[in-house]
Amino acid sequence: MALPAVLPVGVPAALPISPQRLDASVQEFGRVGALPGGGVARLALTDADRAGRDLLVARMRALGLSVSVDAIGNIFGTRAGDGGTQGTVMVGSHIDTVSTGGLYDGTFGVLAGLEVVATLNDMGARTRHPITIAAFTNEEGARFQPDMLGSLVFAGGLALDEALALRDADGAVLGDELRRIGYAGQDRGPADMTAYFELHIEQGPVLEREGVQIGVVSGVQGISWHEITVRGRSAHAGTTPMAMRHDAGHAAARIVCGAHDMARTLGPDQLVATGYTRLTPNLVNVIAQEAVFTVDLRNPDNAALQQADAALLGIAQDVATQTGTDVTCRTLARFDPVAFDPACVNAVEHTARALGYSTRRLHSGAGHDAQMIARIAPSAMIFVPSVGGISHNVREFTALDDLVRGTVVLARLVADHAGATPA
Ligand code: GLV
Ligand code: MN
Ligand code: MN
Repeated sequence: MALPAVLPVGVPAALPISPQRLDASVQEFGRVGALPGGGVARLALTDADRAGRDLLVARMRALGLSVSVDAIGNIFGTRAGDGGTQGTVMVGSHIDTVSTGGLYDGTFGVLAGLEVVATLNDMGARTRHPITIAAFTNEEGARFQPDMLGSLVFAGGLALDEALALRDADGAVLGDELRRIGYAGQDRGPADMTAYFELHIEQGPVLEREGVQIGVVSGVQGISWHEITVRGRSAHAGTTPMAMRHDAGHAAARIVCGAHDMARTLGPDQLVATGYTRLTPNLVNVIAQEAVFTVDLRNPDNAALQQADAALLGIAQDVATQTGTDVTCRTLARFDPVAFDPACVNAVEHTARALGYSTRRLHSGAGHDAQMIARIAPSAMIFVPSVGGISHNVREFTALDDLVRGTVVLARLVADHAGATPA
C-alpha cells in the first residue's frame, strides 16, 4: 500500500526505533515500585510515583528535552521545533498505576514517546513544530477520584482548586501530597497543539483474539463511578432477631446484585463492576453498621448509561426501604463517551497500514488521558495487543514485537504531524 502523501521527502517510512532501548526502558520503569511477585504499585503521588517521576524527568533531560511541571503535577518534556512554539505535537499517557499494576498500562505510552525522541535525535532529524511528551497526574483514579485527573485539569474540565482539595480514602489531600513529593509545579503545558496521539496497550482481548497488530481507537466509552454509603445499625450477630436487624453489609450486597441484574437487562454493552467495599466495624460477630462501596458503570451509549445511572439509584433506594437502612450515593466520576478526531483516527489507520500492519477499529473500554485532551486538541489513540486481554493485574503483558510496532506507528505520526526533515 502506498504511503500517505503527507510523508516528508527523505524521512524513512519506518523510523529506526531501537527495540532494545525500548525494552530496557520498560524494564527499568518496571523496577520502580516493583511488587515482590511481579508488576508494580505506583499509586498517584506516593513515594513510588515520585521515584517514577524523578526517573522520567532524568530520562527527558538526558534526551535534551526541556522539562516543565504544571500546578497539578503533569510533566511535559519538550523537543523544540524550528518554527517557534506553535502547533505542538503531543504524545504521552501516565506513569501512575493501580496498586496491582502491570508494566505497560500508561507507562508504555510515555516511554514510547521517549523512544520516538531518541530516534529523531539519533537521526539528527529536525521538526517544524515542537514535540511534547506528557505524563499526566493520577490517570488511574485508584487513589484520588476522578480518574484522568491531570489531563482533565489541563484541558480545563476541572478547576485546579477543586482538584487540589481532593482527598484519598485515608484523608490525605491531593495538593499536600503533590507538594510533599515535589511536583507542585508552576509552569504551563503547551497552549497550542496540532495533535495528541496516545499509544497504549489495549487492556482487553480483541486484538489478540483476532490476530490484529494495531488497534485504531475511534473513541472511549462513557464512565460513571458511584460511591454508595449504607448506614445501618451495628448489633450483636447472635442475639438480634432477624426482623430487628439493619445490616449494612446485607443491604450493600443486595444493591450490588441488583446493579448486576439491571446491567444484564440493558444488553451486552452495559458494564458494571464492584470496586472497593469497606464495612464498619468489619468484625465477624458484629452486624455491619456502615458499608461504603463503589459501582463502576460503563457504556459507549450515553443515553443507555444515563438509564443505568438512574436505575442504580432506584435500586439503592428500594433496598434502603426494604432493609431499614439509610443509603446515600455520591458521584466520583462521570464522563460522557468521547469520539476521537476523525482526521487523527484516519491518520493512525493510514499510517499503520502504510507500514504494513494489520489494523482494526475499536472503541476503548478503559478511560484514557486522550479522552480529556480531545477537548482541546485533535486526538486519537493507537492500541497494541494485550496477552489474554489482562490489565490492572500484575500479569499484564505485551510482547516486545507489539510494543515496537506501536512505537513505529507513533514515530511516523509524530514525524508527519511535526513536519520532520532529515538532517
Ligand atoms: C482507567 O484506567 C480506567 O479505565 O478505569
Ligand atoms: Mn492507562
Ligand atoms: Mn489503568
